[in-house]
Amino acid sequence: MSEHRLGPLRFHVDHRHLDGDGGPSLRICDRSGDERLRFDCFRFEPHYHLDDASDFVAFGPVADPVTWTVSELRRDLGGYLARTGCVDADGWSPDELDETLRAVESSMRNPPARLDEIDLAVLKTRLSEKWNTYPSEIHPAWVAEMDFPLAEPIRLVLERALDRSDIGYPIAPNETGLREAFRDRCLRLYDWTVDPRRVEILTDVVQALYVGMLAYSEPGDGAVVQTSIYPPFFDAVRETGRELVEHRLIAPIAGREMNREGYQLDLEPLRAAVDERTRVLLFCNPHNPTGRVFRRDELEALAELAREQDWIVLSDEIHQDLVYDGFEHIPFATLSEDAASRTVTITSATKGFNIPGLRTCVAHFGSAEIHRRFNQVVPRHVRGGIGLLGLYATVAAWRHSDPWLAEVRGYLQKNRDHVVDFVRSELPEIRIQPPESTYFAWLDCRDLELRPSPARFFYDKAAVALSDGGNFGPGWEAFARLNFATSRALLDEILEKLAKAVRNR
Ligand SMILES: Cc1ncc(COP(=O)(O)O)c(C=O)c1O
Repeated sequence: MSEHRLGPLRFHVDHRHLDGDGGPSLRICDRSGDERLRFDCFRFEPHYHLDDASDFVAFGPVADPVTWTVSELRRDLGGYLARTGCVDADGWSPDELDETLRAVESSMRNPPARLDEIDLAVLKTRLSEKWNTYPSEIHPAWVAEMDFPLAEPIRLVLERALDRSDIGYPIAPNETGLREAFRDRCLRLYDWTVDPRRVEILTDVVQALYVGMLAYSEPGDGAVVQTSIYPPFFDAVRETGRELVEHRLIAPIAGREMNREGYQLDLEPLRAAVDERTRVLLFCNPHNPTGRVFRRDELEALAELAREQDWIVLSDEIHQDLVYDGFEHIPFATLSEDAASRTVTITSATKGFNIPGLRTCVAHFGSAEIHRRFNQVVPRHVRGGIGLLGLYATVAAWRHSDPWLAEVRGYLQKNRDHVVDFVRSELPEIRIQPPESTYFAWLDCRDLELRPSPARFFYDKAAVALSDGGNFGPGWEAFARLNFATSRALLDEILEKLAKAVRNR
C-alpha cells in the first residue's frame, strides 16, 4: 500500500482481489481520515464509490480504468469530493494536483514486482527460446531473456487487449503513439530532443542492423565491429556480403586481476585496420557481452574517428535501460551535431522490459539524408510490420513501467555483485570484470583450459547452458557468457553447479 498527500487529503493505493475481480484501488480520505472516494480500477467491473457506501457507479467501457480515473480527478476532483459533502474540496494548486496524481498513477500501475518469487517448474513450461532449447535437466543461463514476471502495466495492457479481442490491424505508424513515447523518454532520460518524424518503427534491432548495412554500404565494403560482440553483428556483415573489420576490445591484465577500467576501445589498431572502403561502424553501447558502458571521452574519440573516416554509425543501444549505479548511458547521437547527422540509433523496450517476443523496435535517424537512404533500400512492406501487442506493450513500458525497471535494475545490480564475489572466491581461476550494465557476466576461463570450450564443459559437467564465447568472435573461444537475470535462489543453484564442475574436473 502506498500513500500520497494533497493538502489535507490522503490518497491510499493498494492492489485488491475480490470475487474473481481485482486490480488497483484508490481511496481518497479527508482530513479526519474518513474515506470519501474510492476508485476500484478492476479488470472486469471497474467502478467508483462516493463515500464508503456500498453503492457503486460503474465506469462503463473505458479503454484503461487507471487513465480514466486520473483524468477524471484531474478534471474535477473538487466536484467529486463535493458530491460526498466533503468540505476539503479545494486548497491546492493545479501543479500540486498534477504532481500528486502522477505519483498516484505510478503507484496504481506498479505493484511490487515480486522478483524473488520465481518458480523453476513454471519457468520450465515457458515456450520461449531460453527455456525451450535444451532438455529440462539443463538449467538455461544463456540467451538474453529474464526470468522475472512482466511489468504490471505491460501485463495489463496485453490482458486487456485479449479480454476485448483487440488484435485487429495495427494503426498507422503515425498514430501509434510509439514515436512520441520514445521522444518523451529520450527527453526525460537523456535530455535529448528527437523528432518523432525521424523515427522508424521496425520489428527488431537486428533487422535494423541488416537494413542499415544494405543502405549505407555496398557489397565488399567494410564494417567495423568491436569484438567480442553479440553474434548477429557478424551475421549482419557477412550475410550482406560486407567485409568484417574487427576491432578487438582489449582487457589488459595485471597479475590475476583485470585492469580496473575493464575492456577498452583502443583506437590506434582500428585506425590502422580501416581504409576508404570501410563505410559503417556497427556499435554496441552498452556493450554485449562485456557490459561496458562507454564513457563520454571514449565515445567522443570514436565519434571523431567516425567523422574523419566519414562512417555511418549504426548504434545499437538496446541495453540502455540496464545501466548500473555509477555509470551513465550516453546516446551516441547526442555527442555532437556531426555524430547525430551520421548516427542511426536503434533500440527497443525488449531488453529492459523483457518482451523480446513482441518484436517491436525503433530506429532514429539523425539526419534527413540517412533517413531517406534507409527507407529507399528495402520496400517498406518487405521490412514487415509490428503487431498491435508489441505496440501496446512498448508504449506501456516506456510510459508507465519505470518503477518496475528501477526495481529490476536494483535486483540485477545485487545479482551482479553476487556473481563477481562468488566467482572471485569460489572460481578464482576465472577472471571477471564487473559489468557496468546488462545482465551478463563475461567469464574469462582461459586459465582453466576447459575443453572443448567452457560453455560445452559446463553444459556437460554442470548441466548449465551458458553462451559459448566462440560465437562472440575469433579469439574469444575460452570465454563464456552467463545470464544472471533470475532470482537469487536460482542464481545460487547455477553458481554452485559451475563451481562443483570445476572442483571435480
Ligand atoms: C546488443 C543486442 N542487440 C540486439 C539484440 C536483439 O534485439 P532484437 O531481438 O530486437 O533483434 C540483443 C539481444 O540480446 C542484443 O544483446
